[in-house]
Amino acid sequence: MSSRQILAGIDRTELENLRERYPYRTNARKINAYEDAAYWIGVNVKRAQDLWLDRSPPLDILDLGCGAGYFLYLCRLFGHDGLGFDTDEEPFFHGTIEFFKVRRVVGRIEPQTPLPDLGKKFDLVTGHRVCFHRLARTENGEWLEWTPADWEFFIKDIRTRFLKPEGRLLLEFNRRQDGSSFFTDELRAFFESQGARIFRWKALLGADPNRCPRFKQTQKL
Ligand SMILES: C[S@@+](CC[C@H](N)C(=O)[O-])C[C@H]1O[C@@H](n2cnc3c(N)ncnc32)[C@H](O)[C@@H]1O
Repeated sequence: MSSRQILAGIDRTELENLRERYPYRTNARKINAYEDAAYWIGVNVKRAQDLWLDRSPPLDILDLGCGAGYFLYLCRLFGHDGLGFDTDEEPFFHGTIEFFKVRRVVGRIEPQTPLPDLGKKFDLVTGHRVCFHRLARTENGEWLEWTPADWEFFIKDIRTRFLKPEGRLLLEFNRRQDGSSFFTDELRAFFESQGARIFRWKALLGADPNRCPRFKQTQKL
């Protein structure tokens, strides 16, 4: 299924109407133009392809910080069962989640705090353009963010409570404000010590810390 075919199935006028109903906040950045279905379908098809979701058997997928819901919408088109988890702070997302008929649990990921029970385990847990590790901006505009100890707690919680034995956790990070990678030397070493496979701006972790997971996983788990 190509991006063009996927886009043909989306009522883009209705998405744009949604944006009129929930206008931009004054400080919103262009990258957050989530009514631009052509752009976001393109981005999310690539994400799905990187994980071979367009050719793997049906998976149970949890998307943390699911935002507008594009990724889970695509997952459904590729035959997977998806659940989103996000705060309910962005009214436009409320509209798009309904528009894409994505299931979402509302909650907040907090440092050193277990996620609420979601009643099942997943083959794949994702977090794209992760923001939940950002705590507050410092005076010079940089983000105060989770420490390796906070990440360790989170990864252990996901591994033990949310991943099936062969499950995977995929975290995709934005660049830092100065254009550098999220993976500082310290964070790269930390994620690798947790058994992560790091590829560009993504970290992939398996349920078993002693086994380095693969992006390509086409067999039923
Ligand atoms: C940059 S957006 C990315 C949205 C989507 N994953 C994407 O890539 O298009 C970050 C998302 O994380 C959510 N988020 C931020 N902090 C969070 C937290 N502490 N707990 C849960 N979700 C959070 C936001 O509401 C938003 O939907």
